[in-house]
Amino acid sequence: MENYIVEMRHITKRFPGIIANDDVSIGIRPGEVFALLGENGAGKSTLMSMLFGMYTPDLGEIYVKGEKVEFRSSNDATAHSIGMVHQHFKLVDNYTIAENIVLGVEPMGKKLGFLPAVNMKQANREIAQLSKDYGLEVNPTDLIENVPVSVRQRVEILKMLYRKAEIMIFDEPTAVLTPSEIEFLLKIIDGLRNAGKTIILITHKIEEIKQIADRCAILCRGRLVDIMDVKTASVQEMANMMVGREVDFHRHKSEAHFGKEVLEVKDLTVLNENHFPVVKKVSFSIHAGEIFAIAGVSGNGQTEIADAVTGLAAASEGQVLLNGKDITHAPIRTRAQEGISYIPEDRQSTGVVMDFSLSDNLALRRYTKEPYSRKGILNFGEFSKNAEEMITRYDIRSGQGAKTIVRSMSGGNQQKAIIGREIEEHSDLIIFVQPTRGLDIGAIENVHRQILEERERGAAILLISLELSEVMELADTIGVIFSGELLKTAPAGSMTRNEVGRYMMGVKEA
Ligand SMILES: Nc1ncnc2c1ncn2[C@@H]1O[C@H](COP(=O)(O)OP(=O)(O)OP(=O)(O)O)[C@@H](O)[C@H]1O
Ligand SMILES: [Mg+2]
Repeated sequence: MENYIVEMRHITKRFPGIIANDDVSIGIRPGEVFALLGENGAGKSTLMSMLFGMYTPDLGEIYVKGEKVEFRSSNDATAHSIGMVHQHFKLVDNYTIAENIVLGVEPMGKKLGFLPAVNMKQANREIAQLSKDYGLEVNPTDLIENVPVSVRQRVEILKMLYRKAEIMIFDEPTAVLTPSEIEFLLKIIDGLRNAGKTIILITHKIEEIKQIADRCAILCRGRLVDIMDVKTASVQEMANMMVGREVDFHRHKSEAHFGKEVLEVKDLTVLNENHFPVVKKVSFSIHAGEIFAIAGVSGNGQTEIADAVTGLAAASEGQVLLNGKDITHAPIRTRAQEGISYIPEDRQSTGVVMDFSLSDNLALRRYTKEPYSRKGILNFGEFSKNAEEMITRYDIRSGQGAKTIVRSMSGGNQQKAIIGREIEEHSDLIIFVQPTRGLDIGAIENVHRQILEERERGAAILLISLELSEVMELADTIGVIFSGELLKTAPAGSMTRNEVGRYMMGVKEA
């Protein structure tokens, strides 16, 4: 018998209408990086939520270091040296990094001789030391609200280390990071393994698995398909196995036929809340049938451009024209009606209504129109008909189909729903911000195909993506943004990937 540090045996977990995990058995070796790969909704987060004590399995057993455990809460899991970094971090904004880390396990000092008080000095020292030992580079006294996402994630890692976790679960940690931050995180994970920790890593990016993992379990619709040795498996093999068919990594793009100018942005300047310009005199235009991609490192003003076009942010200077009409100061709703669709970056707060059904969410853009409503009376039959069609076309998977409450859906499937809803409007201008973040490779293939179809239909497409490969595959025209300025705008074919990468770093003449 193998000496596993964690063993999950015959785990089954049902939710209304769906078996999220169906008789799954995995064993994790001490000190390995064990990856979990599977389509959106395959059951990865559910399986790990059970190991972390947030759900209890309907059937099956969990063993930690040979001992059978029955966790009632994540505190039980923490007591068994298990830690987890969730995709949505759980930190208190106006606390310092150290305060967040000790929250719940505060070291006590003596105050006035008898009143216990938190000994923050000691905590700060310990945390600074842990940060140094594992190359995490955080400053314990910084406030959470002042540090970027990548640092918050490292605070979550420190939280696990501070609680002496030996088994660390990461649920899609790289989905929120830029390429250089991903490299940094993978180094940290490697360091954790070298220090003897056991890592479980959920990710959709097979290259990351190739780079860092020892073994990889593949889940498909709740079932375990295989556990592979990463060294001997190819990317294509892993991809095919998880999707259950041959995955096509090649994009079939027809020749460009540009029509009339749909969007024109002239000398656009956008200020942030501190009245500092984050978009500086940016000008570009997009034609019917053109994909204009803005490439750039995160935080260089690209989302603010999208927000200014849709009306979520105000332009302090310049003009935005849609089909020749000045919409610079038009209300958001008017712009949508005039023909703008928007797939925003933060889908959970601006993309969907989490406590509405899938069917209602899919009708959000059209419920005021016939046949969805007539004279103010909603026609729910049409709502579900619409939902059923879109569920098939966009492969939206959930427990109860159209009736499913969106909150209970897997992250990737929530996203497919928003993308489908916005594409179906067949607007003149479609803005995609990070459209494939968090999607599995099969779903990415599907979304890319839909984007190219919309281009062929004659839509003007603004694509904002941190994934350089996505930009290179889809764009007709690339604008590279750096520090709020479009440094270079050129036909996609005229620049190499490396040139685009150099402009992204602010090098003016590549
Ligand atoms: N609390 C819940 N209530 C009802 N259904 C749920 C709940 N949590 C998960 N599910 C369902 O279980 C299935 C598996 O979801 P899970 O979140 O584990 O998928 P995943 O593999 O992590 O997907 P993704 O890559 O999109 O994050 C999904 O169909 C989801 O709708
Ligand atoms: Mg998940």
